[in-house]
Amino acid sequence: MALISMKFIMVALLATVILTTLCNAGKVYTGGYLYPQFYDHSCPKASEIVNSIVAKAVTKEPRMAASLLRLHFHDCFVKGCDASVLLDSSGTIISEKRSNPNRNSARGFEVIDEIKSALEKECPNTVSCADILALAARDSTVLAGGPSWEVPLGRRDSLGASISGSNHNIPAPNDTLPTIITKFKLKGLDLVDLVALSGSHTIGQSRCTSFRQRLYNQTGNGLPDFTLNQVYANELRQRCPRSGGDQNLFPLDFVSPTKFDNHYYINIVAGNGLLSSDEILLTKNSVTMELVKQYAVNNGLFFDHFAKSMVKMGNIAPLTGSKGEIRKICRRVNH
Ligand code: HEM
Ligand SMILES: *[C@@H]1O[C@H](CO)[C@@H](O)[C@H](O)[C@H]1NC(C)=O
Ligand SMILES: *[C@@H]1O[C@H](CO)[C@@H](O)[C@H](O)[C@H]1NC(C)=O
Repeated sequence: MALISMKFIMVALLATVILTTLCNAGKVYTGGYLYPQFYDHSCPKASEIVNSIVAKAVTKEPRMAASLLRLHFHDCFVKGCDASVLLDSSGTIISEKRSNPNRNSARGFEVIDEIKSALEKECPNTVSCADILALAARDSTVLAGGPSWEVPLGRRDSLGASISGSNHNIPAPNDTLPTIITKFKLKGLDLVDLVALSGSHTIGQSRCTSFRQRLYNQTGNGLPDFTLNQVYANELRQRCPRSGGDQNLFPLDFVSPTKFDNHYYINIVAGNGLLSSDEILLTKNSVTMELVKQYAVNNGLFFDHFAKSMVKMGNIAPLTGSKGEIRKICRRVNH
C-alpha cells in the first residue's frame, strides 16, 4: 500500500515537472517583441535619465552596481522581466522581497524609485519599471567596467508577484549543478548563458549564510568543501563562524570586488570561488569547466558572451502590447 502511494506520488511529481517545463517553454521568447528604440519618440531622454541616476548612486556606493544588476536577474527569473520583484506586499500581493533569495539580501529599490519618479516627471505613464531594471542593469555593468549592449525595450509591468516563483525559480547557492542548469533551461537559457551570467559575481557581496555550509559541513558528513582553496577557507572562517554572523558580508570576487572583469573565473580556477554554485561550474561538468577556463584567459570572450546573454535574459517572457500596465510607482500596482 505504502509502496503504491509512493509510486503514485512519484508519477504525479514527474507529471508536474514535465507540465511546468512545457508551460514555461511556451513562454520563453528570444526577442522580436522588444526593441531598443521603443521610447525614442515617447520619452527620448529615458535612457539618459536612468543612466544619470544610476551613475550618481554607484558613485555614492560602488556596490549599488551589483545590487541593481542582480535585481534584473531576480525579476526576469520570476514570471518574466515584468518588475514583479519591485512590488511591496499589499492586498492580495505577497511581495517577492520576502522570498529566501531576496530577504535581507535584495537591495537597490530606493534607486529604482528615484529613477521612476524622475521619469514620471519627464514623461508620465510611459516608461515601465521592468525597462528601468533592464537599463539600470546595463548601466551598472558599464559603470563597473564591464561590456555595454543595446537594451531591447517595451516591457510592461505585472499586476502581481509570485513569492513561490521567487523561492523556486531562482537558483540557490547550494543547488546542485544539474538543478541550476535545469532552472536556467526553464527560462530558455543554456550553459553558455549560465557560465557567462554567473560572471556577474565579479562584483558585489555575499552574506556568510550563503556559503557557510561549504566551510563546515558541505555534504552533511561534518567535513568542509575540499574544492574550496583551504587558505581562503580559513580566512572566510574568521568572520563566518559555525553559528552567528549570518549577515557578515564578503566580496564575491575578493581580488577586484567592485571591478567588472574576468577575475571571478580566475578565482574559480584557483579554488577561490566563494559560493558553491560558483565553484561547481568548474568541478561538475566538462562543458561549463571549459567555459570557465576560457573566460579566465579571455576577458573579451567573457564580455562578448555576457552582453549577449544579458539580452537573452532580458527577453524572458515580457509583457507587451496591452498586457500588464505602466506603473506610476514601482512598488505598487496602479489600482
Ligand atoms: C547561477 C546561479 C546563481 C546563484 C546560485 C546565485 C546566488 C547568489 C547569492 C547567494 C548571492 C549572495 C546573496 C547574499 O548573500 O546576500 C548572489 C549575489 C549576487 N548575484 Fe547571484 N546567483 C546566481 C546567478 C546570478 C546571475 C545570473 C546574476 C546576474 C545576471 C547574478 C548577480 C548577482 C550579483 C551582482 C550579486 C551581488 C549583489 C550585491 O552585492 O548586492 N547572480 N548571488
Ligand atoms: C541548502 O541550504 C538551505 C538553507 O540553508 C538548507 O535548508 C538546505 O538543506 C541546503 N541544501 C543542501 C542540499 O545542502
Ligand atoms: C552536518 O550536517 C548533518 C546533516 O545536516 C548533521 O546531521 C550533522 O550533525 C552535521 N555535523 C556537524 C559536525 O555539524
